[in-house]
This record gives sequence, structure tokens and C-alpha cells, in this order.
Amino acid sequence: MPENKETFVALTEEINTYLRFLAETGCRGLDCSKKSLETLNRWGNKNVSSSETLETIRMDLGDCRRCNLYTSRKNIVFGAGDPKARLVFVGEAPGHKEDETGEPFVGAAGNLLTKIIQAINLSRDSVYICNIIKCRPPGNRNPMPDEIKACSPFLKRQIMFIKPDFICTLGTFAAQTLLNSKESVSRLRGHFHSYNGIKLIPTYHPAYLLRYPNKKRDVWEDMKKLMKAYQENG
Ligand code: URA
Repeated sequence: MPENKETFVALTEEINTYLRFLAETGCRGLDCSKKSLETLNRWGNKNVSSSETLETIRMDLGDCRRCNLYTSRKNIVFGAGDPKARLVFVGEAPGHKEDETGEPFVGAAGNLLTKIIQAINLSRDSVYICNIIKCRPPGNRNPMPDEIKACSPFLKRQIMFIKPDFICTLGTFAAQTLLNSKESVSRLRGHFHSYNGIKLIPTYHPAYLLRYPNKKRDVWEDMKKLMKAYQENG
């Protein structure tokens, strides 16, 4: 009978969707083992930890040779700050001083970023700071697409572990990579976007502000929006 057939098709689709959901959460087959049930319970729960931590992500990265930047780098610049931060800043790539020290944003652009963070009543220790790529491109050239492709999965895992309320991308490459967009930062900045449900506000890179100080006004407008949402959302 047509009615039974429709019910059968709807049921099959529902079971199919549920099996896909189980597979995505790590369950294989109709498995009700303790481990699978723990995986299911953990799914989407911010407060219950999975085995992934920033340390395990760093260990996976290892002595990375996934792109050619390893040939000229001194140090991998993984990221720094509070693993429970509500706000993550994402820059482009380490520069000379970052390559020397292994710390993100410690050169001239970093000093300006520190001032921007303080201007929104936060400190470097209370946020998390990292980059799209973790090794310095020679001569501070722009990151290449293959370098971004090799490195950005680690950034995405860092963000998924931290689960911040806000992301502020600095410059074109960070905004375009996380938003999967080809738009310029001047078009993307000025309002919130969503990155996997996390509010993301793009703004200009501090190194750009050092060259074009008249753009500081735009960044301040972006930071006021960020600060307001951060405080309201606290
Ligand atoms: N510029 C960046 O984008 N990141 C750094 O860590 C330093 C400078």
C-alpha cells in the first residue's frame, strides 16, 4: 500500500540519518560499548573534555615537514595564551622575532596587538593568539595556498578545542581562510561573521596599521563592537 511504502521510506531515511550521526560521533555499527556511549555523551558538550588537548595537537604537529617552510624556519610558532580563552586572535604567519623565539606576535606588530588587546580591557594572558601558518615564510612573504592548506587544519583543531565565544582575524589571509572567502579584509571587516557558530570579526593586521596609521580608526570601530559583544555575552 502506498501509505506503508511512504512510511517505510521515511523510516529508512531516519535510520540512515541516525547511522550517519553515529558514524560521525565515532561509533562503528550498532555499538553500545561504554566507549561509544561516552563519545555520544561528549558530542557537542563544551564542558566534558575529549582526549584532544592543545598539547596533543602540538604533538601531532611534531617536527612538521608538511610544506617546505621547515627548511628555513628556526622555530614552529604554535600559539600562546589561555586554552580556555573566550577570544582568539588569528594572525597570518610568524615574522623574524617570532621565528627566533617560538612565540606569536612579539615583534613590532605584536607590540601594537598587545596595545589593542589592552585597549579592550583584556590582557595577552586572557586571550589566545595564534596564526594561520606556524612557520615563518622566508623574507616575510605572503603564505602560499599549499602552506595554508597544510597548516590550517591544526589551527582549526586549536579553535575547536578552545571553543571561544569570539575570533578576531587579523589581515586578509586569516579572514579569507577561516571564512572560506576571496573578499578583501576591507570588505569583510566591520561586522561579525560566523565560523562554525563562533562569532568572528575580521579587522586589519597590526603590521598594516604600522604602515597605514590612518586605518587605526577602523580597527578601533571593530574593537568597540567586539568589546561590547564580549561584555554582553559574558
Ligand atoms: N604577524 C603575524 O601575522 N603573526 C605573528 O605572529 C607576527 C606577525
